[in-house]
Amino acid sequence: MQKLVLALAAPLIALNAVAEPKTAAPNRPVAYFAANCANCHGTDGKASGAIPALAGRDRAYLEETMQAFKTGARPATIMHQLAKGYSDEEIAVLADYFAKQK
Ligand code: HEC
Repeated sequence: MQKLVLALAAPLIALNAVAEPKTAAPNRPVAYFAANCANCHGTDGKASGAIPALAGRDRAYLEETMQAFKTGARPATIMHQLAKGYSDEEIAVLADYFAKQK
């Protein structure tokens, strides 16, 4: 049983190692948050379809836009619902992450 637990834990530990160590929420690495956006905005925010790319965008713009979705100031089809799931601190961390992608 212990071996099974170790086998299950190993990939999690490996995933942790690639995530940025210094985030506002150390228990939940920023890569986990960013992965929530990948389905629509592409891996690391590099979208190529109709949904706007996030990679390399202005950090302040990304943060302000997420806040505007969250408060409802900016109308959206989907993002207003998603943005409500993130704290202000998490939004800041996400904006920082995507702004740093090439
Ligand atoms: C289910 C698909 C989906 C997911 C998941 C998703 N988005 Fe979006 N995103 C959209 C769509 C669609 C738009 C266009 C606005 C709208 O209609 O909601 C958008 C727009 C945006 C914009 C505005 C871009 C611009 O050019 O003004 C930002 C910023 C953004 N998303 C950030 C995020 C972040 C950060 C995440 C992850 C926490 C995320 N999105 C997850 C679909 C998604």
